[in-house]
Amino acid sequence: MAKIKQINSREILNAKGEPTIETTVILNDGAVGIASAPSGTSVGKYEAVDLKDNDEKRYQGKGVLNAITNIDKILSPLLVGMDASNQQLIDKKMIEIDGTVNKSKIGGNAILSVSIAVAKASARSAVLPLFLYLREYVKKDDQQLKIPTPCFNVINGGKHGGKSIDFQEFLVIPATSKKYSESLEIGTRVYFSLKKVIENNNLSSLVGFEGGFSPKLTSNQDALILIKKAIEESNLRAGFDMFLGIDAASDSFYNENKYIIKDKSTTLTSKDLVAFYKMVNEQFHLLYLEDGLSEDDWDGWKELYTTMSTQTMIVGDDLVATNPFRLSEAISKNAISAVIIKPNQIGTIIEALAVAEMAKQAGLKVIVSHRSGETNDDFIADFAVSVNADYVKFGAPVRGERVAKYNRLLAIESQLKSL
Ligand code: PGA
Ligand code: ZN
Repeated sequence: MAKIKQINSREILNAKGEPTIETTVILNDGAVGIASAPSGTSVGKYEAVDLKDNDEKRYQGKGVLNAITNIDKILSPLLVGMDASNQQLIDKKMIEIDGTVNKSKIGGNAILSVSIAVAKASARSAVLPLFLYLREYVKKDDQQLKIPTPCFNVINGGKHGGKSIDFQEFLVIPATSKKYSESLEIGTRVYFSLKKVIENNNLSSLVGFEGGFSPKLTSNQDALILIKKAIEESNLRAGFDMFLGIDAASDSFYNENKYIIKDKSTTLTSKDLVAFYKMVNEQFHLLYLEDGLSEDDWDGWKELYTTMSTQTMIVGDDLVATNPFRLSEAISKNAISAVIIKPNQIGTIIEALAVAEMAKQAGLKVIVSHRSGETNDDFIADFAVSVNADYVKFGAPVRGERVAKYNRLLAIESQLKSL
C-alpha cells in the first residue's frame, strides 16, 4: 500500500499549441505516474471547467498557471500521505475540496491530471498494466475484455476544420467482428484512399485538428460521397466491412432554435434537421450519429431517436457531457442509444467510470473519446479497455497525439492474448 509522497505539476503544450497541465505523482515506494489533461474545442456547457488563467499577456489567455497553483497549494497538501491505491477516496477528496458542480474552483483540468497520475503511479506500484489496474474499480461483469472498435475521424469540419463544412466529424467504423489490428489497418487504408480521392477532385488534403482531411466542400453530403468512394476504392464493402458515422456537433451551427447547414438554403427547425438526417441515412446508411441536435433541444433528440434509432446509434456527447445527471435525464427521456465518455468532461476517473457503468446498465453503447486538444498521454486507451467500451474515438490514424492511443491499443491487444 504505497502512499503519495510528492505531486508536481507544470505547464506543457497540447497538440493545438495551447497550454495544459502535466502532473507527476511519486509514491513512497518510488513508483511514478505522469498524466496530462486534454482540452476540447467544441466544449459543451455541462462539462467540468477547463480552468484557464484568462491573462491575455500569456498564450492568448489560455495559460494554466492558476490551476497549477491550485494543485500545489490546495490539492497536494491534502493528498500527500494518502494511500494511492484508494482512488475512490482520493477522487472524492478532490471533489469535496472543489465543492462546485462543475469543478470551477480548482479546475477540472487540475483535478483530472492528479486523478490519472495517481492511478498510473499506483498501477506501477502494483506491477499491473493500467487497464487491469483500473478494472479493480469497475463493477465486474462476465464479459471478456476486448479491444473496442475504433471510429476513425477522416474528414474534419465545423470548429475542427476551419468551418469548411458544418458537421465536425465524418467517421469510418470497421465492422465490430474484426480484430482490432485489422480494423486499424483498414481504417488507415481508407484514410489514404480518401487522400487520393480528395486530390483527384482537385481539393486540398490538408488536415484539421484531429488529423482528418479538411477540404472546402459545398455540402456535408459531399463529404459522405468522397468517403464512400474511398471505401470502395480500398476493396472494402461500405455497410459490410466499413460503416459511416457523423459527429455533427450541432451546437456549432445552432442559433435561436434554428440550425443552419450548407446543404439547405433556408434555416432548419429540429424537425427539418431530423428529416435531413433521415434522408442522408436512406442514402448512406449511417451506423452512428453523434450530437445531431443541440445540447438542450430535448424534443429534437426524442424525435431523432424515434425516427432513426432502429438503424443508427443515436449518440450523446455535449448532450450528456459525461455527467450522471445529464445521462439519467437522457435515458429517462429516451433520447439516446449510445453515449460518449470523456473523462475530462467530468474531471475524475471514479466519476467517469461510474457514468460508463450507468450507461452499460441502461443498455447503451459506450464510446470512449479523446478531445481535439490532446497530448501524447495514452491513458484513455487503457480506460476504454477497462470499462469494456464498445467503441473508441481517437481521431484519424495519423498525428502523434492520435496514434499514441491507437498504438497503445495494439500493445493491449497483444497483452490480452496472454492473459
Ligand atoms: P472536442 O471535439 O474535443 O473539440 O470537444 C470532440 C467531439 O466533439 O467529440
Ligand atoms: Zn462530439
